[in-house]
Amino acid sequence: MNHTSAGSELRDLPDPNDLLALAEEAARAAGRLIVEHRPRSLAVTATKSSATDIVTEMDHASEELLVDHIRAARPHDGFLGEEGAAEAGSSGVTWVLDPIDGTVNYLYDIPAYAVSVGARVGDEVVAGAVVNPVSGEVWTARQGHGAFLNGSPVHANPAPRLAMALVSTGFGYDPARRGRQAAILTQVLPHIRDIRRAGSASLDLCAVATGRVDGYYEQGLKPWDLAAGGLIARESGAVVGGLRGRGAGEALVIAAPEPLFGELESLLASLGADRP
Ligand code: IPD
Ligand code: CA
Repeated sequence: MNHTSAGSELRDLPDPNDLLALAEEAARAAGRLIVEHRPRSLAVTATKSSATDIVTEMDHASEELLVDHIRAARPHDGFLGEEGAAEAGSSGVTWVLDPIDGTVNYLYDIPAYAVSVGARVGDEVVAGAVVNPVSGEVWTARQGHGAFLNGSPVHANPAPRLAMALVSTGFGYDPARRGRQAAILTQVLPHIRDIRRAGSASLDLCAVATGRVDGYYEQGLKPWDLAAGGLIARESGAVVGGLRGRGAGEALVIAAPEPLFGELESLLASLGADRP
């Protein structure tokens, strides 16, 4: 624990190494849970923004495990989880949790889903882990210290020119938004090598970090889709941002190394890809 003075108060700053270790440990434990206890016929327990935006009993079980695990180690931290965890906490650390990112893949037993755990201090994600529990791949990053896959450093690809770029994307659940995203995609496709839609935003961001795609863009991401994966992509050498100098957020997320980021940004800006 570091100590620094903020005004007249002494404030405890958590060691980012400790946050990273806890993020990884919790995400691995939740990953084991969702794989080992995946019911043979998985029931959809609720829908959210639309009929196809599902939540299963295991989304809830995974989020509960993450919160319990982290709270046992750090009782004063806050939480922001996709399935409802929402606590301010008093330590200055907020855990941003996606208990299953790629829930539709999970439902269909497509092995491309993840548990995503990011530790935010103020507005900055300082540590994060994304675990694909089927492949056993664990991506981790700590702000300013690079990105890792199963402990080995990973780097975004050297940027190809746009016409040679393999780009991943995703679609929101709202039918009207999906329609607009599809229309934009038809205008992106002629300018790039090809497109991939894997079905898990955090894994898409980790794919950029590992050079499995050259870039990624998507509208409509929530904080839990972006927190850990965004840090991992940035720490791998990619730029993670929005259009016209805005930060990455719900309006749009682009992740790619420069100068590909700039080329994608200009193309997506010309198409109004961040329009609600
Ligand atoms: C979704 C996935 C998907 C992306 C959607 C997300 P969920 O998250 O990350 O790839 O296209 O925007 O909402 O619902 O599976 O946690
Ligand atoms: Ca989810």
